[in-house]
Amino acid sequence: MKLLNYNSKIKKLIKTTSFKNIKNKNTNYNFPLLEDGFTDEDIFKGLEVLLSRKITMSKITEEFESKFAKYVGANYAVMVNSGSSANLLTAFALVNPIKENKLNYNDKFIVPAICWSTSLWPFIQSGLKPVFVDVSKDDFCIDVEQLKKKDLSKIKLILSINILGNSPDILSLQKICKEKNIYLIEDNCEALGSKFKNKSLGTFGDFGTFSFYYSHQITSGEGGMIICKSKKDYELLKILRSHGWDRNISSKNSKKFNFVNSGFNLRPLDLTAAIGLSQLKRLNKMKKIRQYNKNKIINSIKQLPNWNNQFEFFNARENLDPSWFGFPILLNKNKVKKKKLFIKYLNDCKIETRPILSGNFLKQPCVSLYELNKTNKKFKVADEIDERGFFIGIPTEKYSNAKVNYLINKLLHIDKFK
Ligand SMILES: Cc1ncc(COP(=O)(O)O)c(C=O)c1O
Repeated sequence: MKLLNYNSKIKKLIKTTSFKNIKNKNTNYNFPLLEDGFTDEDIFKGLEVLLSRKITMSKITEEFESKFAKYVGANYAVMVNSGSSANLLTAFALVNPIKENKLNYNDKFIVPAICWSTSLWPFIQSGLKPVFVDVSKDDFCIDVEQLKKKDLSKIKLILSINILGNSPDILSLQKICKEKNIYLIEDNCEALGSKFKNKSLGTFGDFGTFSFYYSHQITSGEGGMIICKSKKDYELLKILRSHGWDRNISSKNSKKFNFVNSGFNLRPLDLTAAIGLSQLKRLNKMKKIRQYNKNKIINSIKQLPNWNNQFEFFNARENLDPSWFGFPILLNKNKVKKKKLFIKYLNDCKIETRPILSGNFLKQPCVSLYELNKTNKKFKVADEIDERGFFIGIPTEKYSNAKVNYLINKLLHIDKFK
């Protein structure tokens, strides 16, 4: 086998490219969004696929899909090449001519103001019209209490976004949608592994979408999944995923190259499926460690004499068994002016930060470009999260006392800025 000739090159490559070698020279502490995302086992599983020379649509993708469906308790799962693609396929499945109770051009959908770009755009691209609503300060997700007061008679779909592992009042939301015949879609790209009353988030809606992008609960570099309840939806998603072609469905025609619907090519690589599957096997373990680390930061910081309630932390909704990957912080209102300096300071200390999703999405230039908020609606809580919030990563290895002390001391540094 010619590859054996690469033996020494491979050994050298492994030695020189280990992520663990990259450290902050001054402190030895690094706080990236995700520390060393891949184990040797993950890498080996990916290599196995490469070495098999069959890297698209072989058995490993199907295996990942069926194990994923089992893990979250869904009837069906379809893997795609990103969480954005999962939302795109979902949106286009809902407006497809063969979908029962399909949605129509200009039908309205509700979307929270704290959302991700490709939570929103796929539904607009499929011809639907957004109606923005505010989020709840408790969980940063859609504010269901506000929704109850709204006239929903023209609403055909509610897009719930389960932010950073948290959940909205999902049972009430599900009830509203059932009573009013509204589709409930859960963008669960940020909450794989979270369970509400022992039922996985993502399974409460008609469709649930997931992302395996780099910093999420599990990662395959890029990758996504859609779960659904009926075989018809499952087969429609598979047709749309792959050119509108019927070759991957049970009722396929004997004619080859039979294109029965519109389509995309949003197929994943087996390489990412193999890595995703490898990570799924240790998701529960990583979830527990992240819960431990999150609690350790909060408990340690609260013991410091200069703590003074400087921030608000993010708590899991009652009855939620959360699966975190980020640690959001809301600065106290009187510290907002220092936020820019503070974020720069943290980044200089190798503590990577991110806005909470993309902040209040209505402030993004693309919203003005497409005139999505002509009436200039304001959303109080979304604005607050935008102005006061940011998050840092939570690692999948337990924090040592020294490391957490380093981190919390840096977090409390904000008071030193004039
Ligand atoms: C809520 C949400 N939806 C969708 C996506 C898109 O996922 P991907 O990056 O895999 O395309 C993200 C990405 O981070 C997200 O946070």
